[in-house]
Amino acid sequence: MSGLDDVIAAETSLSEVDGLNGRLVICGYRLEDLAGRTDWENVLNLLGGRMLPESAALRERLGMARQRAFAETRWLDDGIAALSITEGLRALMARLPDGEDQETALLLAAAPSVFVPALIRCKRGMAALPPDPALTHAADMLAMLHGRAPRAEAVAALDTYLVTVSDHGLNASTFAARVVASTRAGYTSAVLAAIGALKGPLHGGAPGPVLDMLDAVGSPEKAGRWIGEALTRGERLMGFGHRIYRVRDPRADALKAALARLGAAGDVDRERLALAEAVEREALAQLKVKKPDRPLQTNVEFFTALLLEALGFPREAFTGVFAAGRVSGWLAHAHEQIEGGRLIRPQSRYVGPKAA
Ligand code: ACO
Repeated sequence: MSGLDDVIAAETSLSEVDGLNGRLVICGYRLEDLAGRTDWENVLNLLGGRMLPESAALRERLGMARQRAFAETRWLDDGIAALSITEGLRALMARLPDGEDQETALLLAAAPSVFVPALIRCKRGMAALPPDPALTHAADMLAMLHGRAPRAEAVAALDTYLVTVSDHGLNASTFAARVVASTRAGYTSAVLAAIGALKGPLHGGAPGPVLDMLDAVGSPEKAGRWIGEALTRGERLMGFGHRIYRVRDPRADALKAALARLGAAGDVDRERLALAEAVEREALAQLKVKKPDRPLQTNVEFFTALLLEALGFPREAFTGVFAAGRVSGWLAHAHEQIEGGRLIRPQSRYVGPKAA
């Protein structure tokens, strides 16, 4: 059944994914020139263009939008806390007003970074903490999670992550956002569709299961056998493979470098890192033998799992943190679709029974 491989479904000036050469370009900048070098607000500004306020005002307005989003955590009740964090995020986002205006875009850009820490704390029986608009977006997200001022190294690592996942061509969630935006339903509806698509384990739901896999492997010396058995059972190894990349996912390298910097600051569990290195080594070696015609490499989710765990996010929140970064791309694509696109309405070929 078709997965629309190689179908060009939109023209975009937002990002280019070159799967053969392992390159990602965002608004004319190579990922390596953005990740670890600039913060998420700057990339939001690059992607957001005319949809958002001028860059000089953006930080202040984003801080105010975090405060507006925090007011919405009043809806966080036992029912929402009982959901998974991604479902809770979707429920809180669904309460935001729909529109195609700048205020809606800002609120949506800010909200996941406020709702995810609030949901994590609520699930732990702790009160949600209000944002501090004077902080950078990444610093504020960590402060709302941990209740203390974050270390500069942790802020830099989270910024690297948010920038790295900010946009990535016509991935499944972005495509979903563009389809909904093309109906003129509004930015909130587009972002909700995107969160739904992101949730799946074949897309943004993979990093939590990466840690489950590492836990199941247990220790570096067991990696080879565990992976061999999983592949024999026909299982997919989480954090490996990609629809577009035929070489290494450049985002994996950006996050691996961020993890190394965080490790140098003493913030990464060395045993976890040694286990992950063994699993990656074995997985790549065995996938090469098992699937010689299909180059399967480490994808962004493998190092996402390690980085977000080191920053203190629980694994069930990883997809929500992904949404906090990718929302910049969803909004930019929704805006681009509205500005220059038409209703997206492809055809299907009927292969069912003939009418009598
Ligand atoms: N482990 C083992 N085998 C794999 C893996 C994997 N991670 N990925 C692909 N394969 C195999 C498939 O079983 C298939 O084998 P077959 O032809 O014998 O059936 C072959 O490689 C081709 O796979 P496809 O399903 O055609 O690849 P597709 O482009 O549809 O899938 C995907 C890409 C979904 C990412 C896949 O590689 C996968 O399931 N990976 C694991 C989940 C994951 O890491 N998801 C995060 C992706 S990154 C992101 O979305 C942000």
